[in-house]
Amino acid sequence: MPPLLPTAPYRGTRDFLPEEMSVRTQVFSRLYETIETFGFQRYDGPVLEPVEIYEAKSGQELVERQLYVLTDKADRRLALRPEMTPSVARMIAANAGRLSFPVRWYSHPNCHRYEKPQKGRVREHWQINVDVFGSESVEAEVEIFELIHALFRTLGADPSLYEIRVNDRGLAFSALERFVGLAPEQVKPVFQVLDRWEKLPREVCLEQLAGHGLDAAAAAKVEAFTKLDFPAFVDAAAPEVRGESRVARILNEGLLDGPLRFDPLIVRGLDYYTSTVFEVFDVSPENRRSIFGGGRYDNLTALFSKQRIPGIGFGLGDVTLMDFLETHELKPAPDVSPDAVVLCAEPSLRGSMKEVAARLREAGVKTVTPLDGGGLGKELKKAAKLGARVAVLVGAEEHGRGAVIVRDLARSEQREVAATDVASEVGSTLAR
Ligand code: HAM
Repeated sequence: MPPLLPTAPYRGTRDFLPEEMSVRTQVFSRLYETIETFGFQRYDGPVLEPVEIYEAKSGQELVERQLYVLTDKADRRLALRPEMTPSVARMIAANAGRLSFPVRWYSHPNCHRYEKPQKGRVREHWQINVDVFGSESVEAEVEIFELIHALFRTLGADPSLYEIRVNDRGLAFSALERFVGLAPEQVKPVFQVLDRWEKLPREVCLEQLAGHGLDAAAAAKVEAFTKLDFPAFVDAAAPEVRGESRVARILNEGLLDGPLRFDPLIVRGLDYYTSTVFEVFDVSPENRRSIFGGGRYDNLTALFSKQRIPGIGFGLGDVTLMDFLETHELKPAPDVSPDAVVLCAEPSLRGSMKEVAARLREAGVKTVTPLDGGGLGKELKKAAKLGARVAVLVGAEEHGRGAVIVRDLARSEQREVAATDVASEVGSTLAR
């Protein structure tokens, strides 16, 4: 005998058994519904993409360390998508001629990243992507933030549980140049240090700054930069950059009806973001971490087309979202039980049993019938174990009268009704 194969899924990936799947389905359907109330349309795309679409602009960490790369039989280098944004930029560029902008699109792909599995990080996650293409207006930002607040509302979370932290990479770039005195080519590596500022010890961050050629005085200024409030941060940036900032407009003019917090540490890890960047945090002391993030990327479609099509949106991962819901006890209960089981007293009544079941299914009742011929007692026990609320019994005597017994398993009450009325009787039992 060959050794048995392991039953555990590949490291960092997950099996979803029906109970968990039911919770996920309920959560995601609420999110889809809310996203659609804003007029977003759902799309999808391939799991495999040419490596080049990530190499150009997704950033070193993702490309060098996290990409699953494979070569197909014709020697093409492909990657399992680690994120959706380059794919959707490709699709938008390919179809730009027949789209009417602004385009509002959303998707729910699985994404693969070779990461060390840990809390909130896995190797395959499902990420809801919501993006607006073709709008330069600050109203695109405002709409995205309004949608984020609406998504939390639909999950039962009020704004005291989370925080949208926002920054503007354009302002941050200019402020770092002028406030710290960085050369333009030093800004990107400093962004990478800022991206991890809260996750790593201070000494490690300072060491990394030194590694990028910053002397102690410059490093001290970077540290002071991380503590700037918004007015000081804006003042540090060049006047022409200040005027362009949508984030400055939203915060200064109060354009968003809902909380939004400036944070100079939000720079985001992906290279393609050009101005607005944001991350949504759980504020609970038990789970103080980023739930999801996004931003504005004005040049990603430029990989595929000469037409300028700016985009703004976010990616919301299932793992961090479920952790948030768990922390705040907002997870819905699983709903995997059938509503009804239909049983018959003897094999000759199987045909009638199936007719009754068909009637119930037509009325939208989740109905199970036994596959193996166990006795009634045994089947009733199984029905209770499955969590069915109602059992319908087709007995020989009742059948002779054109009737069935409808039994409320929760209350141990039962009634005989005409077989033709079974759907309405079961319906009112379920509604009790
Ligand atoms: P990201 O910050 O790399 O952005 O990922 C977005 C979210 O996906 C994260 O905040 C997290 O919820 C989830 N996520 C990412 N990697 C993992 C992982 N290894 N395990 C579990 N969850 C993970 C992007 O991917 C951008 N493309 C989002 C975007 C869309 N920006 C604009 N539009």
